[in-house]
Amino acid sequence: MIKQREHWGSKFGFILAAAGSAVGLGNIWKFPYIAGENGGAAFVFVYLICIAVIGLPVLTAEILLGRTTQRNPVGAFKKLSGSKFWTAVGGMGVIAGFVILSFYSVVAGWSFGYIFEAMKGTFSTFSDASFAGEHFNSLVGNVTWIVGFHGGFFLLTMLVVYAGVKGGIERGSKIMMPILFVILLILVVRGLTLDGAEKGLAFLWNPDWSKISGQSVLIALGHAFFTLSLGMGAMMTYGSYLTEEDNIPSAAFQVLFLDTLIAILAGIAIFTAVFAMGQDPGAGPGLIFHTIPVVFSKMPGGLLFGVLFFLLLTLAALTSAISLLEVVVAYFVDELNWKRHQAVLVFGLLTFLIGIPSALSFNVMADVKWFDKTFFDIADFLASNILLPVGGLFIAVFVAWVWGFDKAVIELKKGAVNFFEKNDWMIVAWKFFLKYFAPVMIFIVFLHSIGLLESAVAQIKQYWGLDVSGLILLILLIRYLKK
Ligand code: PFF
Repeated sequence: MIKQREHWGSKFGFILAAAGSAVGLGNIWKFPYIAGENGGAAFVFVYLICIAVIGLPVLTAEILLGRTTQRNPVGAFKKLSGSKFWTAVGGMGVIAGFVILSFYSVVAGWSFGYIFEAMKGTFSTFSDASFAGEHFNSLVGNVTWIVGFHGGFFLLTMLVVYAGVKGGIERGSKIMMPILFVILLILVVRGLTLDGAEKGLAFLWNPDWSKISGQSVLIALGHAFFTLSLGMGAMMTYGSYLTEEDNIPSAAFQVLFLDTLIAILAGIAIFTAVFAMGQDPGAGPGLIFHTIPVVFSKMPGGLLFGVLFFLLLTLAALTSAISLLEVVVAYFVDELNWKRHQAVLVFGLLTFLIGIPSALSFNVMADVKWFDKTFFDIADFLASNILLPVGGLFIAVFVAWVWGFDKAVIELKKGAVNFFEKNDWMIVAWKFFLKYFAPVMIFIVFLHSIGLLESAVAQIKQYWGLDVSGLILLILLIRYLKK
């Protein structure tokens, strides 16, 4: 018996679900602080270029692979290549889904727990960031609290995925994404109307070009990957529930636009409030859990805005977590004929268990380290710095070189004929960026993130006085122009 594949109820439903996957802790927790640390507007500018020239081509390729094959990442590569190697690349995506979800849910659990902290009025007792920091450390040091909220968040994630593509993920995204947007707008207005908000805006928008270095370009590119949920098949899986009538390039644009808009609005909401309340904008990863509660303790109406803020962060994390779990579930449903509810229960529980050592990395297992990293750090490093960039590189290479660019274009045009009639230059741009530019740049980021780039650059500079990235790009450009 051939199983009927579920599809999205509407293209809008897909866009909200895919934007839900993209918008997450990456936008609200990570983007503001890395932009703050790397030169504000100058960094935002570099980041925008990265998502336009690398994020968008790879996002389009991922969604296209899903729609063409109507399969999860493993099935998609298997169907188009028939090769064991490429099937294993899809398998790497499923494993990345496991790994990311296991630690992502721990941080999301903090946010979930902070909704209750905000409601209890705990923030009003924080006179400065050091109190807030101590409170945060005592919470994450408490095994019951941290594992409990990790579990609570997991249950929510499983509930949505259990209800299916249309009835769970699409319906959930249609409810959660508008709420998220409204809360964010309320917080932006609150931030902008505080005395001293302009200092926050200046911090975020005045470009400090001196802070832009090779390093910050690489950070921007790595973040573009994480924030767009690229490199592990989440967008491929969501794309597999599309039909040939759906216009992929236009959907990809809209997802990218929403993701970027929300990251920038989050930056405005956070930095206006942080500056107006005289807090340290450079608190780094602790900004959300150490600095923001103090901001709310000092702000008129802070109790309500505090609850809203952590609700926003939890919803954003939830719509991302469901896409991570869906990758794993889709694999077991498509390839091994499991029932959806079985797969959700078994792999939801399993991923929750794998996440426990990450949760314990902040308390009883804090001293258990390999290469100076806790279990949480290793899971994060493995996923963000290795599995996602390598996955993204393979996806670009597969679509452009192995499956074949021309075949991909024929598929891409389905549902988008009119779109390309008006914009046929986009195919040329897609070809250049997917075939040459993206693989080279991702390769460089990958080398950098595992620390090899510096030594490679140093060696090449020593011999030829040239920067390695410039050299590779030059060779490729010459080859491209020669054709
Ligand atoms: N895009 C999410 C964020 O910005 O928080 C993280 C993420 C979700 C990465 C889903 C990868 C993924 F498949």
